[in-house]
Parts: sequence; structure tokens; C-alpha cells
Amino acid sequence: MRDRVVLTTKFSNNVESGNPNAGGNGRKNMMRAVEASLRRLRTDYIDLYLLHTWDRITPAEEVVRTFDDLVRAGKIRYAGLSDVPGWYAGRAQTYAEAHALTPLINLQLQYSLIERNIEPEFVPLAQTLGLGITAWSPLGMGLLSGKYRPSEGGGTGEGRLTQKGPGPGSGLFTEHNWRVVAALEEVAQEVGRSMAQVALNWAATQPGLASVIIGASKVSQLEDNLAALDFELPAGLRQRLNTVSARTPPFPYPMFTDAYQSRILNAGSSVGDKPAGYAPPVWMEKPSTGG
Ligand SMILES: NC(=O)c1ccc[n+]([C@@H]2O[C@H](COP(=O)([O-])OP(=O)(O)OC[C@H]3O[C@@H](n4cnc5c(N)ncnc54)[C@H](OP(=O)(O)O)[C@@H]3O)[C@@H](O)[C@H]2O)c1
Repeated sequence: MRDRVVLTTKFSNNVESGNPNAGGNGRKNMMRAVEASLRRLRTDYIDLYLLHTWDRITPAEEVVRTFDDLVRAGKIRYAGLSDVPGWYAGRAQTYAEAHALTPLINLQLQYSLIERNIEPEFVPLAQTLGLGITAWSPLGMGLLSGKYRPSEGGGTGEGRLTQKGPGPGSGLFTEHNWRVVAALEEVAQEVGRSMAQVALNWAATQPGLASVIIGASKVSQLEDNLAALDFELPAGLRQRLNTVSARTPPFPYPMFTDAYQSRILNAGSSVGDKPAGYAPPVWMEKPSTGG
């Protein structure tokens, strides 16, 4: 039975108040955490072991070396990173490659129709360095299920999101996000699927994405979400969702758009000078305004 399951868990957060050695990404805690997970999960190996969040101190080399030791010891099969800066993931993977250590195979990052910030940096990083991206909160913590509606105070609905928080979902009731929700509702009606299914389908089939983590607090939600890949999103409808949800990329990415790059390739020309097969990154779509 065990070999039919792909088991993933992660380390970083401190699990023991007052003990600084029981948290962080250093070798000591990685070793402690993996042993504790194996005991709790009652198994002798973890399929995919993830660093949960950058701790701003442990060198990438130390993490990669320890992942490699854990693979060689048979305690984990594969390794990945979640919630780290792009440069840190790039250094880790390059170090692993240069020293023939276990390569990282996965990046777990927040990604959805209302959170597309990973596109300029992390999608090309993952595609170039051989990492599959797994999206967390692909439904925007529930906002993209359609059960929240704009109201005078921001928004209301039958779920865990509130305008003020506390909690990571606070602040999601913005004009921009309501425009995304409205477009998603139209698209869902056109394809005859629930909004949650369309939002999950969109995220799971975006460039660089290997998988999405399904969050569900009810069996009915899980059943709805499990059907999210049973249909294909027509290109025109994907484009509509891409356009309404696009954001202006931060510096220096505006310098890598077609308009700016034409100055480099050939004064006055455009992207026609790129090699055959070149496709501009998805984040180059014109963002919607305001909000
Ligand atoms: N690596 C990280 O730092 C990190 C951070 C956060 C999460 N995660 C991982 O990502 C997983 C998913 O995160 P998430 O729960 O925020 O994901 P999400 O898919 O964006 O939101 C899930 C929530 O949406 C609502 N929902 C789901 N399906 C629905 C449906 N079909 N119809 C109506 N409402 C629906 C439920 O909210 P209600 O309960 O309000 O109904 C559910 O709890 C977590 O369990 C965790 O494993 C990782």
C-alpha cells in the first residue's frame, strides 16, 4: 500500500516553543524534522521533502548537502523548496548540479488567478533549471470559488475569508480581484463548469506548473475540485482570464518586453527578430487597470 502513495511533507517552522534548535533550515533541524515526520507518519521514507520557507540565514549549500545526505540515507526520495527567493533557488540548483548532488525537483509557491507574481521570475527559473511548480492556494483561499460577493465593507460570503483578518486571506476583496471573479464566473458559465473547477484548471495548465494543491474543507468541495482536469479550457477563454488577471510586472521585467527589447535587437524592429519558436512569457499580457 505504501508504494501507491506519494507522500510529501516539509520542515522550517519551529515546533517547540523556547527551543531555537527545533526550527529553521540548518542541518541540525533538517535531520531532527525528518526523523520526527517519519515517526509521526509511521513510514520509513518520504517521497518529496520540502523546505517550507526561507529562514534568511542558512546557506543554500547547507540545505542542498543535507537533502543529498537524506536521499543517500534512504529517508527521502526527492527534494524541493517552497516560498524562497528566486536567487536562492537558482543558487541551490546550480550548486547541486555543479557538485552532482541530488537536484531539486519542485518549487511550491502561491499561484492563482489573483496571485500571478511568480510568473516573471519563478516560471522561467523552473523551466530553465528543471523544477516543477506546485501552486498553493490555487483558489485564492476560496475567493475564486465564487462564494464571496462584493459588498460595501469589501465583500461577504460563506467561508473563512474576511476583509480585515486576521489571517493570510485578509485584504483579498479588492476591485481588481472582483473583476477577476466576474470574468471567471462568465467563463465558468460558458464551459458549464463550476468556478472552482475553471480556476484550478487554469492554474494547473499554466506554463511551468506541474500540479496544484487542492484545499477543501468539505467532501463536496473535494468532489467538485477533483473534476477540475476533466475538460480543456478553450484558448479564447484562457486568454480572457489571462488578460483580466494580468498585473504590471515589477522592475526590471518591463525591460524584457517586446517593445523595449526591439532596441537591443534591431533599432525600430520588433519581436520578429527572435528565433523561431520564441513565445513571449505569459506575464507580458496587458494588465487590467486599477484595484
Ligand atoms: N507552502 C506554503 O507556504 C503554503 C501556504 C498555504 C497553503 N499551503 C498548502 O496549500 C494547500 C491549499 O491552500 P488553500 O487551502 O489556501 O487553497 P485554496 O484551494 O486556494 O482554498 C481552499 C479553500 O477554498 C474553499 N473551497 C475549496 N474548494 C471549494 C469549492 N469547490 N467550492 C467552494 N469553496 C471551495 C474552502 O474554503 P472554506 O473552508 O472557507 O469553505 C477551502 O478551504 C494547504 O492545505 C497547504 O497544504 C502551502
